Amino acid sequence: MPVRFATVPVMEPILEIQGLTKSYAGGLIALDHVDLQVRKGEIFALLGPNGAGKTTLIGSVCGMVRPTSGSIRAFGQDMRKNWREARQRIGLVPQELGLDMFDTVDRQIRFSRGLFGRPPSEERIVQILASLQLLDKRYEQLRKLSGGMKRRVLIAKALSHDPDLLFLDEPTAGVDVELRRDMWRLIGDLREHGVTIILTTHYIEEAEEMADRVGIIDNGRILLVDDKQAIMTRLGRTEARFTLENPLAAIPAALEQFHLSLQDNGSTLVYRGGDGTGKGKAEVAQIARILIQHDVTFVALDQKESSLEDIFVELMHEQEAVS
Ligand SMILES: Nc1ncnc2c1ncn2[C@@H]1O[C@H](COP(=O)(O)OP(=O)(O)O)[C@@H](O)[C@H]1O
Ligand SMILES: [Mg+2]
Repeated sequence: MPVRFATVPVMEPILEIQGLTKSYAGGLIALDHVDLQVRKGEIFALLGPNGAGKTTLIGSVCGMVRPTSGSIRAFGQDMRKNWREARQRIGLVPQELGLDMFDTVDRQIRFSRGLFGRPPSEERIVQILASLQLLDKRYEQLRKLSGGMKRRVLIAKALSHDPDLLFLDEPTAGVDVELRRDMWRLIGDLREHGVTIILTTHYIEEAEEMADRVGIIDNGRILLVDDKQAIMTRLGRTEARFTLENPLAAIPAALEQFHLSLQDNGSTLVYRGGDGTGKGKAEVAQIARILIQHDVTFVALDQKESSLEDIFVELMHEQEAVS
């Protein structure tokens, strides 16, 4: 069962990025004038292929990457001026492991909590470890843990100082199903507690399942940011195939208003529509009614909605067309 979360209507920006540009030594432009606002309390998915600039963007906010230009405000404060204060309220689950393998789980978590200025709390640490099913591994050295367990430690570390804003960089890339499910549940719980979550992914499915809003990034440029549902409505397309009992020579006049074509020598009636209107499903139902009224019998109807993946491919093509 996919986990679904209700959309919370919150508008206040917790993170405001303006004109953020990063060119690495050698001239590669990893971020190209990125503008982005993330609202308090939402789950925002930054969706893009490998090399799009997702990790660079997170690194710029979290202090591993020095931006070339642009500004970043978190919690209403300029991160350049109030760096320490703002950074303490941010958690990061990095894409790469980067853990001291000879350290224990316990020391890593406690150290991380202290590093970001929180007082020690046995209760909180136990709670975090339990939520990630790490309690019985608490005093193990990291090198003794499986890959999945090490990822859990990364998450525990990121949560150790109770951040208000949590970044998850490709959280489920290469993790097992169980951890993925735990992670989704955890993200849902965190959001319930008011934590704002920004995750990067190249899995459409993940953005589609989890996010309130989605930003699509490619080549260091944000192509589109919108509510997930609005993206689906704006760019979503319905495709339906009616398999007819008897082939048609032409599309009946009563169906002229719809985007229809005939295939397979007239024995399949294909509908492709609903782009930008979100009315695809309703139109398919209308077409079915009209066919029945006109005694055109169909023996099968296959219908599919476009996934974010289709949308992504479509946007890429649009970009190529204009550039
Ligand atoms: N330290 C670096 N030095 C030079 N180029 C880098 C560095 N880190 C990333 N890049 C390049 O910047 C681009 C964006 O990378 P990255 O932000 O890691 O993308 P993503 O996380 O979306 O896969 C890629 O072309 C990548 O090769
Ligand atoms: Mg990355």
